[in-house]
Amino acid sequence: MSTETKSAARALPTTHVRQPPSDSGAAVDSYVAIPAATIMIGTITPCDLYTPIGDEQILYWERGIPIDREKRYTIGEQRLTHLYIRGPDQSRYTAYVQQHIERLLGGADAGTADGVERFFVTSRILMEESMAAPAEPESVQTLQQVVSAGMEQLGDGKNLLARLGRVLVQVPDFYAHALQTCLYGLALARGAGLSHRADLNDLGVGLLLHDVGKLELPIYLWHSARPLGEDDWRTVREHPVRGMTILGSSSLFGAITRDVVALHHERLDGSGYPFGKCAAELALPVQIAAIANAFDRRTTTSPYRESRHAVDMLRDMIVGGRYHFSPKLLATFVRLLAA
Ligand SMILES: [Fe+2]
Ligand SMILES: [Fe+2]
Repeated sequence: MSTETKSAARALPTTHVRQPPSDSGAAVDSYVAIPAATIMIGTITPCDLYTPIGDEQILYWERGIPIDREKRYTIGEQRLTHLYIRGPDQSRYTAYVQQHIERLLGGADAGTADGVERFFVTSRILMEESMAAPAEPESVQTLQQVVSAGMEQLGDGKNLLARLGRVLVQVPDFYAHALQTCLYGLALARGAGLSHRADLNDLGVGLLLHDVGKLELPIYLWHSARPLGEDDWRTVREHPVRGMTILGSSSLFGAITRDVVALHHERLDGSGYPFGKCAAELALPVQIAAIANAFDRRTTTSPYRESRHAVDMLRDMIVGGRYHFSPKLLATFVRLLAA
């Protein structure tokens, strides 16, 4: 990938762009939200940081201010989840994230509520970059970094919902779903006794990329307010095969990664898609991915489906899904969630 393309792929999410009104009625500047959790003690503000009051963006901290414990505490005190930067300052902020990547993803407070939150918001930014060209060596390396940090944050994997509680999102979000599915899957894999580091890494990357084929689906399928029709579903169900095509023949992806992308919608009784494979053909990592994906997909809201409570969802998976999912793995998952 050319440098130019890669820097375009590194553009930050612009969903929070604000356009403050000017006297003339024309927008004078645009602001981009950044997660407040990424502004850490011991760093220096990379650019001017703003906070909205009414319709106005007020300068919160100037560029070049050292963040000490007291200043960081102020952000928490005021319950600021986001600060804002000027649009043209995005590259300064991206450089700041890259400079502090290891501390942002892990660090001494890994596994605490603050550590998990910072890991989550940083990973989400990195995921968005990587998914623009997932088979590029740089992207694969970034995804592996997210997986390693994710395992560090999970610790022994117990008390999973409480550990992730503050960051789990209830709204539809492609990248958050990928991250949450990855964390659930890695916790379940370790709970099921999978301990080989290379296998866990491959599984984690597969879970992050499991729905990558959906990025090629027509835009209307993402925002449809009505239930999808049979033709729409047929298109959606193509995403595992599209995902395999995106991974291509690159040697950077292991067999487990490829299997997870291709087979995460297969079911033990052969009723899944795209191949209708049955239990004997579905290895443990694929069975883990199926549970992690189904659990996260149905406990978050989509435009055409309300979210289900985690307990209801698990009950359904255990009773209604006993021919779909491994009962032994489900029992392990319940133990992890409830521990
Ligand atoms: Fe999927
Ligand atoms: Fe999924």
